[in-house]
Amino acid sequence: MTKLNQIALKILENGKGILAADESTGTMTKRFDSVKVKSTPENRILFRETLFSSDGMKKYIGGVILYDETIKQKSNTGKSIPDMLLEIGSCPGIKVDTGAKQLAGSLNEKITEGLDNLRDRLKEYSKLGAKFTKWRGVYNINKDCPSKLSISSNAHALARYAALVQESDMVPIVEPEVLMEGNHSADECFNKTSEVIKKCFDELILHKVDLTGVILKPNMILAGINSKNQISNDETARLTVKCLKESVPSEVPGIAFLSGGQSEIQATENLNLINKFNNTKFIMSYSYGRALQQSALKYWSKDTKDAEGTQKIFDHRAKMCSLAAQGKWSKNLENI
Ligand code: 13P
Repeated sequence: MTKLNQIALKILENGKGILAADESTGTMTKRFDSVKVKSTPENRILFRETLFSSDGMKKYIGGVILYDETIKQKSNTGKSIPDMLLEIGSCPGIKVDTGAKQLAGSLNEKITEGLDNLRDRLKEYSKLGAKFTKWRGVYNINKDCPSKLSISSNAHALARYAALVQESDMVPIVEPEVLMEGNHSADECFNKTSEVIKKCFDELILHKVDLTGVILKPNMILAGINSKNQISNDETARLTVKCLKESVPSEVPGIAFLSGGQSEIQATENLNLINKFNNTKFIMSYSYGRALQQSALKYWSKDTKDAEGTQKIFDHRAKMCSLAAQGKWSKNLENI
């Protein structure tokens, strides 16, 4: 077993998953605005540290994706955030892309940037304690999208990123996110997601990325949010497992889904069904942002000093996701 494979398994094994706390300052400001909290560096670390010091972190969160600001901040005990996470047995990770920008040659598609100086930035993050990284490509579905250009340029960027990350002895999370926005059918989502993921792995192989040291972070297969033909959670789970079985090389140790705008319960229920139907060798777990933090943020915003109350809500959510990652969740557990 390689060192990278060990890190990937440590993050995802035993019903653990990932907390995606890597919202950029802009995104975090939007989240704080929605609950009327001022987005200052102090408030951002206060909320995040409240979650990081909870019981649920130790039990259910194998890795946390941090943002550049957070990985350099200190906890209130004076420890660095990566040290604080390492001490409780959770791996610190870092988002290293610099965002999705307009793709030249396409009217309305995006290409994720951040390859310039990446090798040097990775060295710095590794010194700060990071064990894994994240890079997200985004794809829209509509009549002409995602185009071959967007599929191929984002796959190329993801592969160059992943190769550099492994060179720095960290595990790359490869995140090609086909967005839920739009009125496309679940079948279209299935076809486009399959095409996107296959192209990503073609490029990863071309760039000699060790697939045993990669975590894939995909979307689930859903109809667009504006589609009149929504599918059941059962169908989502079956189609998602089928898509991944057909598109992901068997060497990949683990898959950690994004929640992508699904409600907390929907993201939990779908993950649970996916694990019930999982007939692959892949670990199928979570790398949720909103579906782990939404309720906790809402509660915290009412009294930012109530760490205990906030942690109780986060612990419950993390426990539900962990049960779902093992196919052991049921709706009645939500009411306890
Ligand atoms: P959501 O679970 O809120 O989609 O966030 C996960 C993530 O990291 C998106 O890049």
